[in-house]
Amino acid sequence: MSFDKHIVCIGAGYVGGPSMAVFALKCPTYKITVVDINQDRINAWNSNQLPIFEPGLDDVVLQTRGKNLFFDTDIPLAIKEADIIFVSVNTPTKTFGKGKGKAADLQYVEKVARSILENADRDKIVVEKSTLPVRTAEAIKGILYSNNEKNIRFQVVSNPEFLAEGTAVDDMLDPDRVLIGSEQTEEGLKACQEIISIYEHWVPRDKIITTNLWSSELTKLVANAFLAQRVSSINSISALCEKTGANVSEVAYAIGRDRRIGPKFLRASVGFGGSCFKKDILNLVYIAESYGLPEVAQYWESVVAMNAYQEERFVDRMVSFMFNTVAGKRIAVFGFAFKVNTGDTREAPAIHVCKRLLSEHAQVVVTDPKALDNARLDLKDCEGDLTFAEDPYEAARDAHAIAIITGWDEYKKLDYQKIFDSMAKPAFLVDGCQLLDADQLYDLGFNIISTGRDHKMHA
Ligand code: UDX
Ligand code: ADP
Repeated sequence: MSFDKHIVCIGAGYVGGPSMAVFALKCPTYKITVVDINQDRINAWNSNQLPIFEPGLDDVVLQTRGKNLFFDTDIPLAIKEADIIFVSVNTPTKTFGKGKGKAADLQYVEKVARSILENADRDKIVVEKSTLPVRTAEAIKGILYSNNEKNIRFQVVSNPEFLAEGTAVDDMLDPDRVLIGSEQTEEGLKACQEIISIYEHWVPRDKIITTNLWSSELTKLVANAFLAQRVSSINSISALCEKTGANVSEVAYAIGRDRRIGPKFLRASVGFGGSCFKKDILNLVYIAESYGLPEVAQYWESVVAMNAYQEERFVDRMVSFMFNTVAGKRIAVFGFAFKVNTGDTREAPAIHVCKRLLSEHAQVVVTDPKALDNARLDLKDCEGDLTFAEDPYEAARDAHAIAIITGWDEYKKLDYQKIFDSMAKPAFLVDGCQLLDADQLYDLGFNIISTGRDHKMHA
């Protein structure tokens, strides 16, 4: 079959995979090829066991794979064939050199840009899809325009991804908005129109926002910074609630009823995790610092500092109510993923909590419905008494405390009488996300330490 257009995506990760699967579903006359240097990942995309878990993704991939969606490792060939190249390789925070700990490490993006330049033999549109610091397009352009012997014209466009893990497919199918940034030149606007026409297959035109390149790049960072700031704001209030007898869920609900504030992203937790929030804010901080705006940098840095405080506080409060020691006590950690409906554990608060508990010499047993493999990897260098259990009942057996870090729905449906009976006494329930009904569990006999509200202890 001949296709109208060939779209290639470099990077078959959390961003590239689901985005391209939905492109393939909604644009049946386009050929979509997703390439990656990681052969195992590509093999997994071509198997029945996809490398990432996303509700609805298996179905979309099954409908499109082998028809107009392909996964491959032949990057040079894909680049040659492509009309439009999406770049969605990883952009971790730098762990070395200038900007260490804050700036984004652009080595992977740069390698891709060089590879595009080397292999392209006709004009291409290159789209930044990964979260990238502002002015990365400039760097990509710098490389793409550096060798003009072939007389190829590249247009660099920014089309940041706003999909959240766990709802990636739905977010792609029904986005709040699509953002496309391009150079404000005739060719730039033409390239922008090409990207618009992909999304127009299913997204109403008034939801597609176009801006200049820099606005688009900055918007991605700012959107994540604002979301994270809401979580840190409510988490800061959770600390105050615990001291004063107010209940953070009630406060959040009541403020959220103000339409100017809105109800979303006001759930107190053990802290925000995920691959984006911390990285993007630190990036924003770095950019502000580099432009000589220390007050702006400090303001945003405090959002990350509040998050670290929340993780720390969770363990401190638990230890203090458990008679100031958890040494030798079995603690069942319920939930390790950075949020529900994903197996992803990047920057998960549970990593820090488990490490702290192990440093307090607790016996830690981790259970999670989707993230146990990643949990094993994240904690592989930890010393101490650490085990993993598929079954939450088994994790809780003989435990002195259950610590709920990720509020999986299945934890609401467990038989807590059975769990209580199997635990060491006094049995503590430390609920980091107000998942369970504290009053009901208190009546069963648990001592309750719930984030954002007063503790409830049996005498
Ligand atoms: C985020 C953005 O939402 C998405 O638009 C962007 O493209 C990538 O980063 P994601 O990291 O998948 O998505 O997760 P998100 O749902 O935003 O949650 C981030 C973290 O905040 C999670 O750890 C979550 O548990 C936490 N959170 C969220 C809270 O603690 N309280 C809330 O009220 C909401
Ligand atoms: P994200 O959450 O941004 O999608 P991931 O780490 O899940 O990040 O995915 C990024 C993918 O990019 C990985 O599968 C990685 O192997 C791939 N990748 C990194 N560098 C290159 C490269 N030079 N060429 C092709 N793929 C790459």
